[in-house]
Amino acid sequence: MTTANDQAPNAAGQTWNPEAYARDAGFVPVLGSAVLDLLAPTRGERILDLGCGDGVLTARLAEAGADVVGVDASPGMIAAARERGLAAHVVDGHELAFEGEFDAVFSNAALHWMSRDPAAVVAGAARALKPGGRFVAEFGGHGNVAAIVTALIAALDAQGVDGATRMPWYFPAPDAYRRVLEAHGFRIETIDLIPRPTPLPTGMTGWLRTFADPFLKGLSDSDRETVLNRATGWLATSLCDEDGHWSADYVRLRFRAARGD
Ligand code: BEZ
Repeated sequence: MTTANDQAPNAAGQTWNPEAYARDAGFVPVLGSAVLDLLAPTRGERILDLGCGDGVLTARLAEAGADVVGVDASPGMIAAARERGLAAHVVDGHELAFEGEFDAVFSNAALHWMSRDPAAVVAGAARALKPGGRFVAEFGGHGNVAAIVTALIAALDAQGVDGATRMPWYFPAPDAYRRVLEAHGFRIETIDLIPRPTPLPTGMTGWLRTFADPFLKGLSDSDRETVLNRATGWLATSLCDEDGHWSADYVRLRFRAARGD
């Protein structure tokens, strides 16, 4: 796999490094089987993988016989997806420019990052689909990583930084997201909020190293260290078991909707 990573942080302050992602968060595509089952891709279908990351799940869609295109805002992740031989392009999910060409739009563990204007993302997915096409996705729902978010905000506040203003993610409740989907012409087939505590192979340190950049942007090295140590210390109470195994308090929002025309 390539060693390329993003040259600069994105608008949320996040930098993606495919190798660190595979090491610290390789469980993300592994746990994507349920949403893949809900998608049920068939041979010859044209599918858009929205927020495809390094393309691990995109490759599974291709193996199922789909004609799949991956898009992601991270150049480093797209380079990694292309190394797998996938058709993949650097595109911000808020700015999808496809018109009526896909049988399905699929997304795993990505929509919560497209937090600037979730309605614009859903509008782009609707536009990209053929009439009757389906939008099937899983991402962080209401309450996702609540302990981690709260600990980071509290640790930043203790350092004199307004932590809440740095929250980079969109974790909607099912009713709220249903309204966004319906406002863009989708008919909801299923939408569920699913608590899924998730073991962290490289502990909370690995998770924070991979995902907490937006909370830490602009801090000095010593302030970063203080915030991370404080947050990790508080989190140990609820997310580290007696044997030192860490988990994250993931809550998934999983849905299947069809363009209702
Ligand atoms: C998630 O998959 O739920 C997630 C991953 C990284 C940061 C925030 C949420």
